[in-house]
Amino acid sequence: MNIDKVPGSVGKEIEVKGWVWRMRESKDIVFLIIRDSNGVLQCTIKEGHPDFERAKTITIESSVILHGLIEEDKRAPTGYEMKIKKFEIVGLAERYPITKDQSPELLLDLRHLWLRSRKMTAIMKVRHTVVGAIHEFFRERGYYEFDPPIFQPSQCEGGSTLFEVKYFEDKTYLSQSWQLYAEAAIFALEKVYDMSPTFRAERSKTSRHLAEFWMAEMEAAWMELPEVVQVAKDEIRFIIQQVLKHNRPELELLGQDIAKLEKIAKKDFPTITYTETLDILKNKERMKVTWGKDLRTIEEDKLMKHFDTPVVVTNYPKEIMAFYKPRDPKDKKTALCFDMLAPEGYGEIVGGSQRDTDIKELSNSLKDMGEKPENYEWYLDLRKFGSVPHSGYGVGVERVIAWLCKLDSIRDAISFPRTMARWKP
Ligand code: 4AD
Ligand code: MG
Repeated sequence: MNIDKVPGSVGKEIEVKGWVWRMRESKDIVFLIIRDSNGVLQCTIKEGHPDFERAKTITIESSVILHGLIEEDKRAPTGYEMKIKKFEIVGLAERYPITKDQSPELLLDLRHLWLRSRKMTAIMKVRHTVVGAIHEFFRERGYYEFDPPIFQPSQCEGGSTLFEVKYFEDKTYLSQSWQLYAEAAIFALEKVYDMSPTFRAERSKTSRHLAEFWMAEMEAAWMELPEVVQVAKDEIRFIIQQVLKHNRPELELLGQDIAKLEKIAKKDFPTITYTETLDILKNKERMKVTWGKDLRTIEEDKLMKHFDTPVVVTNYPKEIMAFYKPRDPKDKKTALCFDMLAPEGYGEIVGGSQRDTDIKELSNSLKDMGEKPENYEWYLDLRKFGSVPHSGYGVGVERVIAWLCKLDSIRDAISFPRTMARWKP
């Protein structure tokens, strides 16, 4: 029986399978706190019990099967206690290398063991909800799941962060985004989404960048910028609602302010332009950003001090944007694109745009980036056969999890993080 069923079992004898999380003994009693995937339970065994001496030899993280009577006990951590009747050791653990107050680096070296910590267990459960919410959100709105290739012959988000892979006698790259392939799929399915591994050789050692992360993307035919921005806002709001519905104990354990998330889930997320963000930075933060420069982390963070919900920023300067983002006909220096920034310094959680359908503009943008348009022939073909306005975006799944779980680093939002400094275990 799982430990979360314990409150309904008072006065009954049950079996619990789990691992020894904490232990303490006094002269005539051994206290074990057992954990399983659903919770913890204090279990006691007293002197005189045939297994008492054996219980004293148990070690942290040993796996056990216990039978006993459940009683209410206000002194126990969860208010319930098992009086052990039968005590079976399944796997006696060696001395556990993780003790209190370990450095983050050691916990990353021992990630295969640290995964079972209460903190990582809670984060993985939130992640489960976030991933499920994304599938539910799109499937309920008539989007088809469409899977991309992961080996890709060219860049989508700039050549400098591509991971090159030896491919038989040739070379190829790991996917930086699903987008270009999704743009092919919309001509069949119209509305598509996916969530898949994404790779960026990011040379930054920040708390926001992973080299391998999961991006959840969508692409839709007949959709322009204002509508796609609204879809992104609705999706993020839905994710928060689902996490609030399913993960209250986890959020509490992680120290997240639930009331604050509830407020965010009810509020409208504002939309402002890049140019307006520069005004806010200048007037409220006395920070001067030259028009045309991308917003750096420090500027995003200063900007977000003035908001308590995510904010959508549109119309970044065209010149610094990826090649597929079209010029805004109403404001030609800018592109029809957007980012969504999370509050409290969690940075950009969504990036998206309308897509350029003009072959000349696309070819020129590619050339400006030092790319050969010939390498994108298949992509440019999509503009030749029944082209339509279309738009899409990508959500950084770990960025969202890091924000909702109030994590110090994005590394804890994924089970085995890969960064510039780490690709083991
Ligand atoms: O803004 P990005 O680069 O957009 C794209 O890749 C588009 N092709 C998506 C699309 O329109 N279909 O990435 C999207 C999001 C970012 O907003 C960020 O949240 C996340 O992916 N992201 C990262 N997350 C963790 N580590 C990294 N190195 C990330 N790079 C981007
Ligand atoms: Mg971006």
